Amino acid sequence: MKEYIANLPKAELHVHLEGTLEPEHIFELAQRNHIELEYQSIDELIAAYDFYDLPSFLKIYYAGMHVLQTEQDFYELAWRYFEKAKQQNIVYVEPFFDPQGHTTRGIAFETVITGIHRAQIDAEEKLGIKSNLILCFLRDMSAESAMEHLQMSLPFKDWIIGVGLDSDEKDNPPSKFAEVFARARQEGYKLTMHCDVHQKDIHDHIRECIELIDVDRIDHGINCLDQAELTKAVKDKNLGLTICPVSNQFVCQTYTTDEIRTMLTLGLKATINSDDPAYFRAYLNENFFALIDEGGFTKQEIDQLVINSFEVSWLEDREKLIYI
Ligand code: HPA
Ligand code: ZN
Repeated sequence: MKEYIANLPKAELHVHLEGTLEPEHIFELAQRNHIELEYQSIDELIAAYDFYDLPSFLKIYYAGMHVLQTEQDFYELAWRYFEKAKQQNIVYVEPFFDPQGHTTRGIAFETVITGIHRAQIDAEEKLGIKSNLILCFLRDMSAESAMEHLQMSLPFKDWIIGVGLDSDEKDNPPSKFAEVFARARQEGYKLTMHCDVHQKDIHDHIRECIELIDVDRIDHGINCLDQAELTKAVKDKNLGLTICPVSNQFVCQTYTTDEIRTMLTLGLKATINSDDPAYFRAYLNENFFALIDEGGFTKQEIDQLVINSFEVSWLEDREKLIYI
């Protein structure tokens, strides 16, 4: 089964590029950019990856990205992810990036996106991996900052397919960003938002995503299963749910295999993704392997999850035909 999964052409719809920054690369960039790290060795850094909830993960995640400084650094970040994706037989990706994680450190938006975009072009040409980029706003920053970054993105609109919302969910509901997302929609962007697993007010957040923001997809969204009315809304709107089993194990101590199986039984469009693979030490295949090991998933269930990810991707319908 694992060989079958490894060889299957797959799509990935929920991967933060900054979450693909490998410890070795952190050390390499720290040296090149003359940045002093808190850790003496790669092993010491990895030993600090003992997350138990979303904030404890985010702290390490934001600390890690400080080594990213130049356009070349962002190129390398994305390129190395695409090389990894190639090894995993990923043929299509919609990666996230967090510009506010960089502009707040004095790195220009243009520097970040130009590096990533160059890697996307090379990945398509040299590795045959197509990708469409999603700009994420940090929900623990202000709506004004999100709007400023939406404005900053407009000269690069052709390089961005949609916008998302990530970072710390506690007391940062979708409604805080209603105006920003309405404007993003007007600009032609697709919309998605994180509704992380078992967060405070999670059911209200899922409801707002659907009713107020009118999202095109939900990142995570596991808790829609808790309320019949939310489950029905996700199903009726055929909303894709980008689930990340290994990330869930770190952040809320469950691979959520039962929930993923329930979604498949109900015909919800669950997809499997890696989230922050360098930090959770598991790329996409390893997330599928967890479903086999923890949940005994069948070949048919795996096939359905992979088909779902192409189906709820933001590829044009005619492009989807190439893959499905
Ligand atoms: N949740 C919220 N914000 C994030 C995540 C996540 O899993 N990864 C990177 N930023
Ligand atoms: Zn995420």
